[in-house]
Formats: sequence, structure tokens, C-alpha cells
Amino acid sequence: MNSHHAAAEPARDLHSFGEPARVRVRHVSLDLELDFARRCAAGSVRLDLERTDRSAPLVLDSESLEILGVVGSAGGTRAHRLAGRDPALGSRLEIELAPGDTSVTIRYRTTAGAQAMQWLEPEQTSGGRRPFLFTQGQSILTRSWIPLQDSPGVRVTYEATVRAPQGLVAVMSAEQLGRDERGAWRFRMSEPIPPYLIALACGDLEFRELSARTGVWAEPGIVEGARDELVDTENMVQQAEALFGAYRWGRYDLVILPPSFPFGGMENPRLTFATPTILAGDRSLVGLVAHELAHSWSGNLVTNATWRDFWLNEGFTVYFEQRIMERVFGAERSAMEKVLARRDLELELAELAPWQQVLHCDLAGHHPDDGFSAVPYEKGALFLRRIEQLVGRDEFDRFLRAWFDGHAFESVTTEEFLVSLDRDLLARHPDAAGQLDLQAWLYAPGLPADAPRTESTLLAAVDREVGRWSLSTPASELDTRGWVTQQWLRFLDTLPDELRVTQLAELDRTFRFTQSGNSEILCAWLVICAHNRYGAADKATAEFLLRVGRRKFLKPIYAELAKTPEGLRRAKEIYALARPRYHAVATRTLDELLQWGHAR
Ligand code: BES
Ligand code: ZN
Repeated sequence: MNSHHAAAEPARDLHSFGEPARVRVRHVSLDLELDFARRCAAGSVRLDLERTDRSAPLVLDSESLEILGVVGSAGGTRAHRLAGRDPALGSRLEIELAPGDTSVTIRYRTTAGAQAMQWLEPEQTSGGRRPFLFTQGQSILTRSWIPLQDSPGVRVTYEATVRAPQGLVAVMSAEQLGRDERGAWRFRMSEPIPPYLIALACGDLEFRELSARTGVWAEPGIVEGARDELVDTENMVQQAEALFGAYRWGRYDLVILPPSFPFGGMENPRLTFATPTILAGDRSLVGLVAHELAHSWSGNLVTNATWRDFWLNEGFTVYFEQRIMERVFGAERSAMEKVLARRDLELELAELAPWQQVLHCDLAGHHPDDGFSAVPYEKGALFLRRIEQLVGRDEFDRFLRAWFDGHAFESVTTEEFLVSLDRDLLARHPDAAGQLDLQAWLYAPGLPADAPRTESTLLAAVDREVGRWSLSTPASELDTRGWVTQQWLRFLDTLPDELRVTQLAELDRTFRFTQSGNSEILCAWLVICAHNRYGAADKATAEFLLRVGRRKFLKPIYAELAKTPEGLRRAKEIYALARPRYHAVATRTLDELLQWGHAR
């Protein structure tokens, strides 16, 4: 590969219709009213333009939007053409420009097809009395609520005015400017961000301060618990800054969404969106906060230019998350998380197609979501740890700091990373360069043999106890005193695959897994129960699948159920009830897994 040549070419984003080299959107000015009864947002967006090719039209992405009209800044309406819909990419929207136009204003309405928006009934919230709305832009869903150039390479600043029903609070991934004279919520993001990070949530939200620059939004019934769970947030920001330079976004807040949020967390700038399933009560799952915070550097400051480069976002972020966790909670906690993550990667690699196992994967003909797996996350992080191992931590940190500073508020490709890696690091370390097999790490399937291994004494202790139990020591006699969540996850992960109902009952009686309030432990347990047809957990399984919409949990449980005809029947029964409450991101995965819509 000739990376120098490749870096000179602007990266082509296969997942956007936009033609930013000719006309580029620079600023987005939203004015929307939220209609919870109709489940739509209606109003207008003004797009400020940079016109490199004065004769070119403006080309945008849109998905299921109702375009009501366009006016140009030079005055008068502008013709627009909405092309036929591509099932993955939505519709190309072309707008004619007059010579003097520096912006256009599009009046539009979202429809039921707005996959980025999840409108929740009051019953789906913790309070149960008020509806809720949140948006999820990544990867290519922003176009379903805002017409724009929906490519991570086209960074925009934005401002927004949002009218919401009385009593609901709106928050966005932006500076909160308060309410205008008519009661509308106002926001401004002054740093250029990729469009997938424009995000809105609206519901019965209250705020609690965590420190002068960090805080949490959540529904009133859970906001106190959320504050306690997240007390380490300020420390995390400080440790992250010590590692990779100043936090550049002003505030760092989180909003705890209702349980149907399809992800664990989403790194919307200034305001991480998070699932309530991280609220375990003992702060054991706040690695997720370290992860989303880390994206403030890797992902939000320096962004993957296309979805092929997704590992630049997630691999860097997992690496960075692990460094933050090490500083805040110590090397052993971080070691446990590394071991668990690597194990997940190895299990998943066995199931993925070869192309999905490649870090710099070829997404031609694929939806960005098809490249989503542990590979960009864990293989990406292991690649960076391998480099760290070869050049030493101090050198690698110096390189990373320079990388973030040198590319702040830019979108970058894998090729550009390789140029910089070569020039700014490997050129100074010829021995390391000779030992690093870039070809294997970036372009080949599987996990290279030199992937760093991590040892954890606390997990080794778990393995000993599992060994004793397998040799018939009663569960009640195992030494599990003081075990933390990561140890329980190891315990469940290393149990024999095939278990008898009496064994499951013994474990459940002793350790109360079915009653666990820890979502990670409960999910791992329910997968085991599904695999071994442990009927005593059926009720808890159905309850969990109906309440929680986090794809990471739904997928393994449904997949395990679907392996037997009887399980598949139950899975479909539950899915029929739960599906209307899941986000489009989750149903996209689960429809395929359960062959939904095919002959039932
Ligand atoms: N940015 C991702 C979530 C994402 C990825 C959304 C791709 C849409 C497309 C986020 O930072 C993330 O990785 N979340 C993880 C949590 C994390 C601790 C690994 C999740 O949601 O499970
Ligand atoms: Zn992430």
C-alpha cells in the first residue's frame, strides 16, 4: 500500500450522497417543534454553505423526511429534487442554488420512518408519567431527522431552537443557552463536529451537579442514584487530561436515558447519552463513562473520516478507556476488563466473516452497522497496545498527544494515521518498526499472534474456584468473598457450556443470579439459562427483554433462544410484544436474527 499517495486523495464516503468538494455545509441552524402526539419534529433548518464550485447544486442526505419547501438566502424559493430511496442510505436531496446564495433554509417534517428518533410512551420511562424522546445519529441516522451532508468527514457547527411541551426539558450535545422569550430551548455548538454527534433528548429531566464542570441529567426518580453512581466522573476527566491533553469541550455532562436506549453509551459532545443499565449501585460499570469520555479526544476531536475508519474511533477509545480506568481504579481492575474484553473478541472472531475481522474493513456494498463488532473495538485497542509495548509507554503517549493536538477538530482516515505513525513514531524507533506487522494488524482477518496478553490475579482466583466447583465442591463452599462484578462475569464465562438444571438451580440458589441488579451479570446468566433451558429463569428473561432495549444484551439472549425450535418460539412470542418498544437500531439486528417478517 502506498499510504502517502492515498493520503493525498480526499476520502470518498460510500455512505453519503453529499458532494462536499463542490458545495459544503458548514453550519446548521435548527428550528424545530416536537410533537409527541404525532411523533414528529417539524420546522426548518438553515444550512450555511461553502461553495467551491459555484455552478454546482447542493447535495444532501435525507431519509424519510417530508420536505415542504426550500428558500435561498439570495431570496426566493429553490427547486429541490428528492431521488428514489436507497434502503440503506435514504434519498439523495438535490437543491438548486442561485448565484448569490450563501445559505438555504429547508422547511421539513420528520415522519414515522425517522430511525434516529425514538419516541417513548410514559410507561417506557422510569417515572411513568411523561413521554420521552431521544435521537441517535451514529452511524448514518442523522439524515432521518435533519437534511444535511451526513458524513463524518463533513464537520459542522450548529445552533438549535427546540419547542417542547410544557414540563419537559430538552437537552442537546451543545452549550445550553436556556430558554427564549417564547419558552423554546436554545443551544449552540461552536466547535465543528461530525453530523452523527448532533443529538437531542427531551423528557422529564432533572440535573445534578457532579463537579463544577460535570453533571448528570436523569428522570427525578433516578437522578440521585445516578449522581452517586457517577461520582468518579470529574476524576476521570482529570486523569484523561493528564494523559492526552486538555478537555476541549467546556462541560462534560451525562444524560441517563430510558432503558430502551439501544446502546450502552453514546459520546455526544458535552453530553454523553447513557443507558440506565450502567446504574448497578456499586459503580462497577462506570468503565462505560471512561469510554464515552475518552471519545472527547478519540472520535469527537479526531474523527473517523469514513465508516471504514471506524476503528480509529473505537479502537483508540477502548485503549484510552483502559488507560483512564487504570489511573482511576488501579491496574488490577483495568487488567480484569482487558482480559474479559479479549475473551469476547476471541469468541466473536469465530463467528464473523473474514472481511469483518479486518480493522480497515471494506464496507463497499455494506451498511456501516455490518462492520460493527468487537473487532474495531478490541482488535483496534490491542493494535495500539502492541505499538505501546514496542516503543514504550512514554514515547507512545507523546505520539498520541501530538496526534490529538495535530488533528484536533479534523476527520482523518486510516491512511493519514499510518503516515503519521510512520513519520512521527516508527521512524524514530527502527527496531519497533521492524517488529510491527502493519499488514497483519490492519488488513488481515484474525488476531495477530503478537497481540498483547494481560494477566489478572483476581480472575485467576475465579478460575480456581470454577475448577473446584467442576470437581464437585458445592457452590456454597466456594471462596467468593469480596468478588467484584468483573470476577462474577469471569465466573459465568468460564462455567462449563453444558449444565444440568440441578447445577443451575444450585448456582442460582447460592448466588442469586436471576435476581441480580447488575445488568451485565444478569445478561450473562440469562444467556446460560437459555442455552441450558433452565425454565426457572424464563420469567426473568421475558421481563428483561421487555424492559431493556440495549442491543448488546438483547442480541446474545435472543440468539441463544433461537438455537432450539422451542426457544425460537418463545423468542418470537416475546419479540412480538417487545419489538414496538425497541429502537430501529436494535430491530435492524434482531429482525435478521429472528427472521422476522419471514413466514412465522
Ligand atoms: N459510539 C459508540 C456507540 C455506537 C457505535 C453507536 C456505532 C452507533 C454505531 C459508543 O461509544 C460505544 O462504543 N458504546 C458501547 C459502550 C462501550 C463501553 C464499549 C456500547 O454502547 O455498548
Ligand atoms: Zn465507543
